[in-house]
Amino acid sequence: MKQIIINGGKVLSGEIKISGAKNSAVALVPASILSDGIVKIDNIPAVSDIDALTETLLYLGAKVKREDGLMEIDATKIKSIPIPQNLSQKLRASYYFMGALLGKFKYAEMYFPGGCSIGARPIDQTLKAFKLLGANIEENADMYKISAEKLVGAHIYLDMPSVGATINTLLAAVRAEGVTRLENAAKEPEVVNVATFLNNMGAKITGAGTSEIKIVGVNHLNGCFSEVIPDRIEAGTYTILGALIGQELKISNIIPDHIESLLSKLKEMGVSFIVNDDSLIISSAPKMRAVEVKTLGYPGFPTDLQQPLTALLTQCNGKSRLEETIYENRFKNVDYLNKMGASIDKKTNRIIYVHGKTDLKGKTVIATDLRAGACMLLAGLKASGKTTINNVEHILRGYENLIEKLRAVGADIEIVDA
Ligand code: EPU
Repeated sequence: MKQIIINGGKVLSGEIKISGAKNSAVALVPASILSDGIVKIDNIPAVSDIDALTETLLYLGAKVKREDGLMEIDATKIKSIPIPQNLSQKLRASYYFMGALLGKFKYAEMYFPGGCSIGARPIDQTLKAFKLLGANIEENADMYKISAEKLVGAHIYLDMPSVGATINTLLAAVRAEGVTRLENAAKEPEVVNVATFLNNMGAKITGAGTSEIKIVGVNHLNGCFSEVIPDRIEAGTYTILGALIGQELKISNIIPDHIESLLSKLKEMGVSFIVNDDSLIISSAPKMRAVEVKTLGYPGFPTDLQQPLTALLTQCNGKSRLEETIYENRFKNVDYLNKMGASIDKKTNRIIYVHGKTDLKGKTVIATDLRAGACMLLAGLKASGKTTINNVEHILRGYENLIEKLRAVGADIEIVDA
């Protein structure tokens, strides 16, 4: 168990360089097994979710080399063997092996995936898509055996634009016979990154980034080189930090369009910043206005930035309203923010009101999940005095070189074994 200890209240300035996107990388790594050659992926973040997926690759028989951000995967000799429960449940993205193994071997066997406990997170849309492509699914307790004599392109309409179901459908359908039309697909940049990666291997995918994706199946996928896009959630988290306690804090290696929904909210609050081609410079504003925020699929306001933003809303004057539409249990950070001095009412498990502005004081708190942990981190950096965050393993799943990046811009922060 590790703890993060922060002596808050410091002003941060300098530059934070954003790493490769966790939620893209965790899809590209399993996707690589579809290739009949060697795949190289650059800009892979050094986060623990990638370590967990690497363990699964090795378990299946792949050869993996990793140096700095470059990962080379040779999965030409792997077999589709059952993925045990401990590997399946380490993270949500383990279930991209379902789509990739099904696409390549027409057979996948694994357990229900893990991931942050922020809601029920069913996988029915993925299973529906597999069935429509011709797969048979045997479910026994939490174990899934998915097999097909052959996969055949189909017309698939997702009940909701699920990121996971969209990516899993791409992974299975690239090796199906004929054309798959996926409607109500997720439009997230991570989906586009996966489609580009598969197209680099020789897949024929068009429309990624819109709600209608067309996949023309192919029977061979070659080796390729691809890159992970910059992490828009890491970029957003540090941008929010800049609005909280930054003084000309530069956030670099970003795609500003990917955080447009956040930037427009910051503008509404009265925060000023300068956006360049691949970076932005942001400072905290002496007075910020309360706002209303509702999480939505891309390009709407991302649920993954909802909790980090709450730390900033405690510093806005007036009553902010925050509505979470994606997950039914993503306000576990609220009690800890209140412990630190915030004034937040939980109206329902989907809506909170943040009354600002309130001073925050350092306390001992818990990172209940990845983004709740990011929220506590931001609150601790703003608060006066000492904040101790427990269960920080959750945070390390998604933020590369967190401590180093924050120290370099002036934060007083350390990670210790508890
Ligand atoms: N849903 C269903 N059935 C399904 C799939 C999804 O009901 O078959 C529901 C979910 O329960 C949820 C909503 O649809 O309420 C959206 O789920 P989605 O499938 O889009 O999410 P995901 O693929 O499981 C990814 C990210 C999440 C991020 C969401 C939304 C990864 C590994 N995870 O999850 O990231 O919140 O998309 O953008 O890519 C995080 O990074 O902290 C994180 C939780």
